[in-house]
Amino acid sequence: MEISNDLTRRSAMKVAGAAAVAATALEGAPAVTKNSGDQVRFGIIGTGSRGAYLLKHLKGVDNGHCLAVCDIKQEALDLAASTIGTNPAKYKDYRELIARNDLDAVIVAVPLFMHFPVTKDALLAGKHVFCEKSLVFKPEQVGELRALSASRPKQVMQVGLQRRYSVFYQAVKSMIDKGLLGNVTHMYAQWNRNPGWKMKPMPNLADQKMANWRLYREYSGGMAAELASHQLDVAEWMFGGAPTEVIGMGGHDYHFDGRDINDNIQMIYKYPKKQKLMAMYASTTSHLSLFGSTRTEFGEIIMGDAGSVEITIGDDTHPVLATWYREPTPPPTITKAGEKSAKKVAGATMVSASGAKGVPILLDRDKVNIQQDSFVDRETKFARQWLYSKGVMMPEEPRNPVDTELESFFKNCKDGGTPLANLEVGLNDSISVMLTNLAVDEDRKVHWTEFDKLAKGKKA
Ligand SMILES: NC(=O)c1ccc[n+]([C@@H]2O[C@H](COP(=O)([O-])OP(=O)(O)OC[C@H]3O[C@@H](n4cnc5c(N)ncnc54)[C@H](O)[C@@H]3O)[C@@H](O)[C@H]2O)c1
Repeated sequence: MEISNDLTRRSAMKVAGAAAVAATALEGAPAVTKNSGDQVRFGIIGTGSRGAYLLKHLKGVDNGHCLAVCDIKQEALDLAASTIGTNPAKYKDYRELIARNDLDAVIVAVPLFMHFPVTKDALLAGKHVFCEKSLVFKPEQVGELRALSASRPKQVMQVGLQRRYSVFYQAVKSMIDKGLLGNVTHMYAQWNRNPGWKMKPMPNLADQKMANWRLYREYSGGMAAELASHQLDVAEWMFGGAPTEVIGMGGHDYHFDGRDINDNIQMIYKYPKKQKLMAMYASTTSHLSLFGSTRTEFGEIIMGDAGSVEITIGDDTHPVLATWYREPTPPPTITKAGEKSAKKVAGATMVSASGAKGVPILLDRDKVNIQQDSFVDRETKFARQWLYSKGVMMPEEPRNPVDTELESFFKNCKDGGTPLANLEVGLNDSISVMLTNLAVDEDRKVHWTEFDKLAKGKKA
């Protein structure tokens, strides 16, 4: 397929059509109508920043009903109850919430060091569990949670890795599977912030540590757990397997406020088919060079020899964005002697001077169906695609992936389906986080085969 750097209206449509094919049938699940019999009765444990955010979204999710909220802080409890607006019971001890017989499911949004004990107790009490990422904190928790969940196959276990629920991320995975990016060899990921997390001072050290748990190693996996975990999951998903090794360098170099975690980490990971992920997390810049620097902080580039995709999940005010860059010429073939064919080298040289123009990835609803669309629908779609190609408008995710992940969790609780972000996805992600921290702390190459030794002989 030809594509010039200045797309005409018709050529934009051709390219858009190809991307839309990639995204076929990936749009969000149909909404479930509100009816108490269809609703999963849930409680939420940990209603700080993330818990409160989830509750804001849960308010609009019809197939769940909140009966109880739990936090050790009164103000967090009160805010949670008023946000969800269902007059939930309030608890300060999570075990009391879990002991309720009228709850089907529990959402866990406590700090990382509490994920395992709360999730374990909730599973033992017969609840379905949605636990925020990174799923577990310590190596020995991996095997124990796996065994516990396996002994309770009817209980759903989902992890808060919401990119798995984005139709754009799903479209990119589908593009990879259909070969549209060619041989996918590299990924770049960053989540930079400036200045990043700030220490909230408290009158005594114990309270300070609890209020700033992310900044202390005894409670937190630092930037790897809080930021990299999302992108490690994307890499594993897109590359089709867990890494085999990682090298890393990081440091506690810029923010001296009592924290003991690193404030910058940089890693290179290798995957089974030799793919590499380069990832950086800095707290001295928020610059993002993707999307013409129209966004800041975080995003990923997935690179293949036939094309690349820039993608970011965004936030409530900046929706998911994805742009596809096709390699201007087919990848050069390497001869047995290791030389590229002359014709293709010439083509590549010529093109590298002109660069490639990115095109937005389209979802099914933007695809023109000549047979079925009315004249008006067709022309509207053509016009929309043309505006996308000019950068005047961008295709948008139909729903926030957080809404989709929560609705999907409740649906699985009812139907017994397996979550896209299931237990193994969450455990693999946590293993990657733990091995990342080991590589950075010990300043060496760490192999995934080392993981079992870390857990050996320890009880979770
Ligand atoms: N998926 C995402 O994009 C995303 C985004 C942000 C945070 N998170 C995750 O959510 C979790 C919570 O992060 P946060 O930013 O909300 O932290 P936070 O400190 O703002 O909130 C944690 C809350 O848990 C409460 N808590 C602590 N111990 C408790 C206990 N034993 N019982 C009940 N409540 C308890 C605290 O009082 C606090 O209100 C973390 O694991 C984090 O990684 C996920």
